[in-house]
Amino acid sequence: MSPEKLLAARTGRESVYLPSNRLGLYLALRHWCTPGQRLLMSPISADEILFLVLAAGLVPVIAPISVLDGNIELARVTLSAVDAVLTTNLYGLPDEVMAMAGVVVIEDVAHAAETSVGGRPLGTFGAAGVFSLSKHAGAGSGGVLVVESAADRRALERERDLLLQPGALRRDLLTVATSVGRRLALKLDMARPAIRLARALGLQEPREGYRIALRPDELREALSSPLGLPALDAWVRADLHDYRCSRGAVARWYQGRRLERLPADRARRLAGVARLAELPTVAEGVLHHVDQPLFRVPLLVADRDGAVAALERRGIPTGYLYHPPYDDYAEPFVEPSTAPEAARWWARHVLPVDPLYAERALQVVESLLPAPPPPGDRLLDRAAAA
Ligand SMILES: Cc1ncc(COP(=O)(O)O)c(C=O)c1O
Repeated sequence: MSPEKLLAARTGRESVYLPSNRLGLYLALRHWCTPGQRLLMSPISADEILFLVLAAGLVPVIAPISVLDGNIELARVTLSAVDAVLTTNLYGLPDEVMAMAGVVVIEDVAHAAETSVGGRPLGTFGAAGVFSLSKHAGAGSGGVLVVESAADRRALERERDLLLQPGALRRDLLTVATSVGRRLALKLDMARPAIRLARALGLQEPREGYRIALRPDELREALSSPLGLPALDAWVRADLHDYRCSRGAVARWYQGRRLERLPADRARRLAGVARLAELPTVAEGVLHHVDQPLFRVPLLVADRDGAVAALERRGIPTGYLYHPPYDDYAEPFVEPSTAPEAARWWARHVLPVDPLYAERALQVVESLLPAPPPPGDRLLDRAAAA
C-alpha cells in the first residue's frame, strides 16, 4: 500500500504524499497562517524547520521548554500572544497538544509516527500533522501530510505541485540504496565505515558544530526575495538536497513496504524504551511514556559529546542533536525565549539513543554520569553544593 494510504488509515484523515516532511510543514504553515503572524515553536528542532518558518513569512516566537521532555512548556506561555503553534514532539515524546485550544496547531510528527495521546495518534490533533518517512520507517526521504477535510487536501496538493521539482529514477534508486545501506550497516555493526562514506558522498551537510552555517547577510537577502521558499533552498535543504523533488513509483513502493513493516519492530522498540528508561540518566518525561514506541530515548548526561564519540567508536551513530537552541543560533531572526536557560541545558546535555539498538548502546550509556541539575532547580542546586 502507498505511504499516504497507510497514514490515512492510521490517522483516519485525508493525506497528501510529499518528498519530505519539511515541504509539508511549509505548505501547512502557508495554508493556515498568513505572513507576519506569530508562530510559537520550540528552539530545539532541526535547522531546516526554523528556515522554512522564516520562508513562510512567519515570526518565530521561541518558547520556553520543559526540562522533562525538551518540548514547549505551555505553563510558561501566553497562548493568546501568538497566532499559531508548531509542535515538535521531540524524539516521540508528545507535546501538550490537548491544551493548545484556541490557536492554529501544526503538528510536526517526524519523530512521533507511532505516538498516541489517550489512544489517539499524534498528527490528528492539529489542523495538520506532518510525518517523515526517513525516521521510524527508515524509508529514505519522504513525507505525508494529514488533514481533516478533502477540500484542504486538494488545495494542499495544488500548492505542493507548484513547488515540486522534477524527479529522476536515478535519484529514487539512490534514495532507496542509501536507506537500505544505512539499515544494513547498523544491523551488521558497520556504522563507522557507513558514517565515513556518507560524509565523503556529501550526504551530510557541512556543519559548524551541530548546526549549518547561518550566513546571516545572505539569509536576510534571501528573505527579501519575492520567490519565497525557493529563495531559501540553500538552508531548507540541509541533509536533503532533493527535499522538493518528485518521487517515482520505485521510491514510493519502497516507502510503503517499510511503513508496512513498522509494526514488526514495535515490540523491540518498546523493550528498548523500557530498558533505557531504567537508567538514572533518562529524561524524566520518558517515564510517563514508556508505553510508546519512541523514536529515540533522550538521556541527559554530563559529557554528551564524549558519549557521542564513544558510541560512534562502537558503531552507533547519534543523530538528531539540535544545539544550540534557535535563539542562540539565529538570534536576529527570532523573538527569543523569555526563559532560555532550560533549552541551553537540554541542548548541551541530551543524548538521544535509538531504542532498537538499546542493548548495544548500553555498553556505553550505562556508565555515563548524569547531567548537572537543570537551571532553576534550586533544591537540586543546593543538594549539589552541600
Ligand atoms: C524534528 C524534525 N522535524 C522535521 C524533520 C525534517 O524531516 P524531513 O527530512 O523528512 O524533511 C526532521 C529531520 O531530521 C526532524 O528532526
